[in-house]
Amino acid sequence: MPYLQAIATDRKKCVRQLDTNIIKTELKAKDKKLKYFGLPGPDMVDCLTWKEYLQEIIAVEIEDKYIPYMFNTACLHKIEGILTVLYGDIDEIILSGQDKNGIKIDPLLPFNLVNLDYEGPLSTALGAAYSKRLEALRKLVMMQTEKKVESWLLFVTYNISPYRWREEYVEKLFETASKVIDEIRRYNVNIYTSLKQKLNYPYYNTSSLEEKVELLTLALSVVVLNTVLKAGKFEIDLDNSFVVTYEGGFNAKMCHIALRLIRCEVLDTPTQYSQICELITKKTFKLEKHNSELSLKPILG
Ligand SMILES: C[S@@+](CC[C@H](N)C(=O)[O-])C[C@H]1O[C@@H](n2cnc3c(N)ncnc32)[C@H](O)[C@@H]1O
Repeated sequence: MPYLQAIATDRKKCVRQLDTNIIKTELKAKDKKLKYFGLPGPDMVDCLTWKEYLQEIIAVEIEDKYIPYMFNTACLHKIEGILTVLYGDIDEIILSGQDKNGIKIDPLLPFNLVNLDYEGPLSTALGAAYSKRLEALRKLVMMQTEKKVESWLLFVTYNISPYRWREEYVEKLFETASKVIDEIRRYNVNIYTSLKQKLNYPYYNTSSLEEKVELLTLALSVVVLNTVLKAGKFEIDLDNSFVVTYEGGFNAKMCHIALRLIRCEVLDTPTQYSQICELITKKTFKLEKHNSELSLKPILG
């Protein structure tokens, strides 16, 4: 029985299809297959779905028991020749520059497709991982900048089921998001007002799960986008980027941020904030299902 395939939902498949469209754009721009870096897990469903677009797979796995299983999966699908597995916590590996076996990541850079698909709905609580994840993300963007990669794709998925977020981390997230939003005010008062109105709604005063998920999505998106844009020299290809919140297996609420990043010399602060605003207002959705039809609904609509 596959470890994770059983929890793949029609919504996750839909999100993966949206990712695939972006991958095709990147492939066309590059005219070359992509080097993947990420967390495929033992069943490697993402890598298998995108197999025809990949020339190399650098997989990271924290659970040593999954690693042989991963090679089995790769052999079964004839991709073992392009697979390297690093062992350890991906954030630690990015921050320290090597995995638990001493394999260095610098020679493996740059990556064309990074899929930080950290969590299935069953893994442990997010808790302390939050700040380390942001730090690792910052470092990754800096490393990609140093390697002068022309463009690349960054997919990040977080479990935002409200019960998984301890109060102190929710507070920290909203505090950071609030600082970014206050900065946005200087550049775009309209967006500032709609974000502020929405995010001023006290998280712990609402018992609505939907409201909580929306608030977490907006705050997380603001923080992640700001981290990415501040860390390196990339702008967001808005036509090929989006944020979507969807229901994963076991009713887990997931937030998926997909960005196509393009190298630029300097991205001034007004442009950074206007890109964040554009993405949040026009490309941040919740995936809804009505009468067995899936549709994307803007969160700040
Ligand atoms: C959600 S699954 C991957 C699913 C896969 N990307 C897909 O699309 O089907 C995440 C995998 O990464 C591993 N993992 C989770 N957090 C990790 C971390 N911080 N560092 C390394 N591996 C991690 C898990 O053990 C699991 O095998």
